[in-house]
Amino acid sequence: MTLRLTSRPGGASASGDPRRGGVEFDRRRPGMLLDLREVVFNLSGVLDFVGVTDINHGKRVAFLSHAIGQTLGLNRHHQARLFEAALLHDAGVSSTREHRVLVSAYDIPDAYGHCERGHDLLSGCAPLAHLAPLVAGHHSAWFELADGAHALDPDQRLSANIIYLADRVDAMLTGDDLTDPLMRRDEILGVLDRESGDRFAPDVVEAFRAAASRDALWFGLDADALPIELAPMARDGRYTLVSFPVLTELASIFAHIVDAKCRFTATHSVAVGAICARLAALAGLNEDQQRKVQIAGLLHDIGKLRIPDTILEKSGPLDAAERATMNRHAYYTHQILRQIQGFEDIAEWAGSHHEALDGSGYPFGKSAPDLPTESRIVAVADVFQALAQTRPYREAMPMARIREILGDMARARKLDSDLVGLAIDHADTLTACGRGGVCLDQVAMSRRASRSRLASTWAARSSRACSTRAS
Ligand SMILES: [Fe+2]
Ligand SMILES: [Fe+2]
Ligand SMILES: [Fe+2]
Repeated sequence: MTLRLTSRPGGASASGDPRRGGVEFDRRRPGMLLDLREVVFNLSGVLDFVGVTDINHGKRVAFLSHAIGQTLGLNRHHQARLFEAALLHDAGVSSTREHRVLVSAYDIPDAYGHCERGHDLLSGCAPLAHLAPLVAGHHSAWFELADGAHALDPDQRLSANIIYLADRVDAMLTGDDLTDPLMRRDEILGVLDRESGDRFAPDVVEAFRAAASRDALWFGLDADALPIELAPMARDGRYTLVSFPVLTELASIFAHIVDAKCRFTATHSVAVGAICARLAALAGLNEDQQRKVQIAGLLHDIGKLRIPDTILEKSGPLDAAERATMNRHAYYTHQILRQIQGFEDIAEWAGSHHEALDGSGYPFGKSAPDLPTESRIVAVADVFQALAQTRPYREAMPMARIREILGDMARARKLDSDLVGLAIDHADTLTACGRGGVCLDQVAMSRRASRSRLASTWAARSSRACSTRAS
């Protein structure tokens, strides 16, 4: 089958002059010129989505951690690592229920599971692996971190403890919308003073006290002030060539986080990414395009992190209000990705995965002329994989039925007929490819699991320490 490639609408391209705000691709080497800090900053925003209505927890923790680090006079490198780890500290939390428990009170039970999951995810991703020990230790008391059993260097111990304190300060403030955070200052400092030398390092408590003496620290936590406060830290200002394998690893982390949100969609994003890459190759796209479409496939559903668990897991049909909430996820995906310079195309393709050629899709109501081949590939891969997966409201479908439904959707001008033809002709290859993505993924997870002994040790030791202190 020959595929007619659709031209990009409006000449949309990732090429351009970086000085004018665009990003130029280096055609001699496989990768993208990106500000890696900007990528991490914006992708970490999806972790905050888990708060649903309160979507700034990670950013507030990063803001407070940065303020403590500044007061302590940490060097630039140490500050950068602290800030990024604080943004990603809850990488192990995908469920809105679990998030609510973690930020609902100062003292919480069983906090170590998400530390371990976050550690495992980050340690398997080259550009983020250096942050994993800090994430693993962000609910461990100072007296445990300082006893030398956790194999952290002094800088890592200090950073993990700073994030822990910032996280608990935010937990004390969360849920109290009515009181100005500044009014809670003395009460919060009183709690932290009692924990000094035990849960928190005395130096960290003192640094927070000094930072908290400025009213501006508390005003900076407001939703409208926070983006302005964080803007100077949100990008590094330097563009480096990030290779496609590294970018794919980075995107896979966030694919895992969204897949972990719901047991019915476990592995969905990872499989869609793999199917996208294969379908793009079958459609004759070049290697760079294949890799970019794979990244779009991996990230297409990251907006689902903002959809409440109750809607994603509902076994019956969604009512009108639930459907309206659910349909927002593609818009959220687009909003997050479009903020990354160099990701403009990826944002378009990922955010358009529920659009239809006849204009009946969502959230932008695009139609055929607005949907380039790459967007159409993500849409076909998404439907193909979803039909093959059990959902709360139906069982996984056999291949014959999947072929039928895809054919119907192509005839109704929901999906691209050429791409559907390719998917039908190569259904077995695509299925194996989706499974292969999953298999490779499981290998990677088992490798990470063997590296997670450190975090397990933490959990066991910390549980013992807590029960000792409680008795
Ligand atoms: Fe947290
Ligand atoms: Fe979706
Ligand atoms: Fe999807």
